[in-house]
Amino acid sequence: MKLLIVSATLACLLCVVIGCNSRALKSGAGALIADGKTPQDVYKLSTDPKKDKAKALAVTFNHVNHATKNYSIDGTKPIACIECHHTEQPASEAAKHPPDKTAYPADRTVTLTAETAKDPKTPDVQNCRACHAQEGDKPKLLAEIPQVTFEGDTDPTPLTNDAAFHRNCNSCHDQALEARKGINAPSTNDCAKCHTGK
Ligand code: HEC
Ligand code: HEC
Ligand code: HEC
Ligand code: HEC
Repeated sequence: MKLLIVSATLACLLCVVIGCNSRALKSGAGALIADGKTPQDVYKLSTDPKKDKAKALAVTFNHVNHATKNYSIDGTKPIACIECHHTEQPASEAAKHPPDKTAYPADRTVTLTAETAKDPKTPDVQNCRACHAQEGDKPKLLAEIPQVTFEGDTDPTPLTNDAAFHRNCNSCHDQALEARKGINAPSTNDCAKCHTGK
């Protein structure tokens, strides 16, 4: 009898644990869970623009599409998490793709992937603005907004939120549009295709 109770309790506990980790439950419970571990299916970005407000309307970013469908430039595979979350890998790995060099936390040993994301020991994913703050703001995780002198430039570019997002999103879209026909990626100058206000 005791054994039965113990195993029943264990089974229940297991249910609870599995239940809590199930993606369906999470998104069902509210697409607004943002805990640094589980991404929302869809994000609404640029909801509080400071500059050029008439053009910088809200952007709908479909995270599930970008993290699981074959959205790579050549359309053959999903995009690696670290192509966007570039600080979520060890510094030695980041340094293989200059100008990237920063890891967060600095001493991390794990690279964020769909697999490692499920491991509780993987450091929390930081949102872009925690470092790429809006112009004039101090970022939460850094002393100041990062600056990079890109190849061919003489002056450093401050990577505010718009500079960082535009560079990350647009460079892929423009290359994918160049490489493939019939895809629905907004190009750099298709401002309104991203900034739909919805
Ligand atoms: C691929 C989608 C995409 C395209 C194309 C795009 N943007 Fe953006 N834009 C974004 C995202 C994402 C952000 C950052 C949102 C955030 O920080 O929440 C942003 C931020 C901005 C901001 C900064 C607002 C602020 O002060 O926080 C401005 C201004 C802006 N965009 C204008 C433009 C203009 C003008 C164009 C066309 C030349 C354009 N964008 C094209 C996605 C896009
Ligand atoms: C922990 C801080 C931090 C976070 C979080 C972060 N960045 Fe960065 N980012 C930096 C720093 C610092 C640099 C300058 C290069 C370096 O030191 O790695 C940079 C550089 C960049 C660059 C220019 C370099 C290049 O390879 O073109 C882009 C684009 C960029 N970040 C986009 C993003 C996006 C998009 C996100 C969110 C998905 C993000 N960053 C999250 C700190 C961060
Ligand atoms: C195309 C770019 C892109 C790719 C690829 C991508 N993400 Fe994201 N991710 C984002 C953006 C943008 C956000 C919204 C929050 C922000 O501004 O950083 C986000 C948010 C998150 C969050 C929530 C962070 C928080 O602060 O609550 C997690 C967790 C996350 N992503 C994990 C992943 C994992 C795991 C992968 C790979 C399987 C992945 N992402 C692939 C761009 C991307
Ligand atoms: C490494 C490549 C890559 C990056 C980085 C990337 N995208 Fe995309 N995105 C694509 C591709 C490819 C498509 C078109 C997919 C298709 O039509 O088959 C797309 C489509 C879109 C669409 C159309 C709707 C949809 O979800 O299919 C929007 C809006 C969009 N991207 C916004 C963004 C924003 C905002 C960012 C930056 C936070 C971003 N993307 C980063 C590859 C990328």
